[in-house]
Amino acid sequence: MSDVTLDEIVSLCKRRGFIYQGSEIYGGLSGTWDYGPLGVALKRNVMNLWWKMFVEDREDMFGIDAAILMNQKVWQASGHVDTFTDPMVECQHCKSRFRVDHLVDNDEYENETKEYFTRSLAFVDSLPAKYEEYSQEQVAQIGDIFGHAQTPATYPNQTTKELREYLSSNQEQAKKYLGNFPRLYLMRSAKKCEKCGSIEWGDTRTFNMMFETKVGPFADTVTIKPPRTIEAGEEIALGGPTGWWIKPSENTVYLRPETAQGIFTNFKNVVDSLHPGLPFGLAQQGKAFRNEVSPRDFVFRSREFEQMEIEYFVHSDRWEEAFEQWRLAVHEWTKALGLPEEKVHELEAPETDRAHYSKRTIDFEFDFPHGRDELLGLAYRTDFDLMNIQNATGKSMEYQPKDGGPAFVPHVIEPSFGVERAIMAALTSAYTEDEVNGEKRTYLKLPTHLAPVKVAVFPLLKNKPELVAKAREVYAMLKKEFGAVMWDDNGNIGKRYRRQDEIGTPHCVTIDFQTLEDQTVTVRNRDTTEQTRIKIADLIAGLD
Ligand code: GAP
Repeated sequence: MSDVTLDEIVSLCKRRGFIYQGSEIYGGLSGTWDYGPLGVALKRNVMNLWWKMFVEDREDMFGIDAAILMNQKVWQASGHVDTFTDPMVECQHCKSRFRVDHLVDNDEYENETKEYFTRSLAFVDSLPAKYEEYSQEQVAQIGDIFGHAQTPATYPNQTTKELREYLSSNQEQAKKYLGNFPRLYLMRSAKKCEKCGSIEWGDTRTFNMMFETKVGPFADTVTIKPPRTIEAGEEIALGGPTGWWIKPSENTVYLRPETAQGIFTNFKNVVDSLHPGLPFGLAQQGKAFRNEVSPRDFVFRSREFEQMEIEYFVHSDRWEEAFEQWRLAVHEWTKALGLPEEKVHELEAPETDRAHYSKRTIDFEFDFPHGRDELLGLAYRTDFDLMNIQNATGKSMEYQPKDGGPAFVPHVIEPSFGVERAIMAALTSAYTEDEVNGEKRTYLKLPTHLAPVKVAVFPLLKNKPELVAKAREVYAMLKKEFGAVMWDDNGNIGKRYRRQDEIGTPHCVTIDFQTLEDQTVTVRNRDTTEQTRIKIADLIAGLD
């Protein structure tokens, strides 16, 4: 755990213009955040640092900036339409909704789900061949297993064989599809609703986290896969196996839930236009959107956030070596953010917790104020994505080595970074309290390359034109050099120091009467609070 509380971070961010609640003036929009003048500066510093470290400073990395709106086929081929889902339950009493995995003891739940899955398969095997031959009890149990939308009335032509095939093909995703099991489990373990304390739970619904929108001036339509057709105006029930009978209309598009697919879909373009030697990587920064069921912990889990992702393409024989190189590179990154080594932890994700595309994943966790939680991920995605694209489009994703060796579809190592979590971790690490002259002081000990303001310039008194004129001269000189320079002539110097400390400004420069005599200024260091006199002519070098 960290020493600083989440409330302290949130309060500082709001008070000093780093981060505000999205749409706050209209009552807010949950899971969205707006960056104020200092927040946007910090965010840009984080993103520029990443770009410099992982793109500009390397020979084997190139940038990409793909569109946020992508053809829906991208997300069908990637598996997101079918599997980017969370099972949710609703409290029967207050109607609050929760993700099942946030309510349960995951190990125990996992084991019980597996047992339930095995029993369900055995039950399906014991059924008569056709739906219409099922007894009332069997129908009810089918509802329990698959969700209550799954009944002979809904699917008159469904065969038991198809039902079994469906259940088997989703074995790995069992926890997400077992209709009524989560509800029964929660009731049995007397899990209370976090909002109202009730233990009455409703059916489980699967919920796709992608935000949908429509392109073009088309009617809002949904196509239902045969055998059932939908009546005009009929409300489509949630529940039942996702992606089975609801098919998005042709004009449906999704706001990207990860930036990664914009890289994979451009792999061939880059290879054909730039002809990079393998291994090489493509990097992208940009917005991602997820309709998180319960956004939480400030910007940690947001519905709109920023990712910085790398897809590093290698020959399948070399993936372990590349994975290790990126593991070390991730530690370099956390150091550059100013995170203490002992607060960064590697968690090897067990198979059951890995995303559908991954053969190995390390979650890098950090001791956030709310507890240890995921900062970023490193995954071995195999050739999953390029093969999906190849199969879906019929276009070859093979790479032809320059030495004339046989062509192959590259495998991929993916370091995936979240900007908001990097900012939260950097703020948590930087937040410091000490005592100066008997008074409590709060300051952000940010690395200089992240500080939103590099240096602040103060005229000692704002009603002495000669001091102000000299201070303006110094300010102009520093601004030209460093850009992020702040002018402050408000209140006594002590208060101005405190204001700059709180936003992490490494240096404050004061122009006083002595400056007018000997062309020296006072430079005050944020961390030590020490003040030294430096000649204006030496100031730029002295601040580096
Ligand atoms: N392309 C792989 C991928 O997207 P992920 O683990 O789902 O993997 C990668 O996301 C990173 O994106 C996470 O480690 C985290 O830093 C960030 N991230 C994911 N969901 C987020 C959310 N709802 N709010 C803020 N950051 C998020």
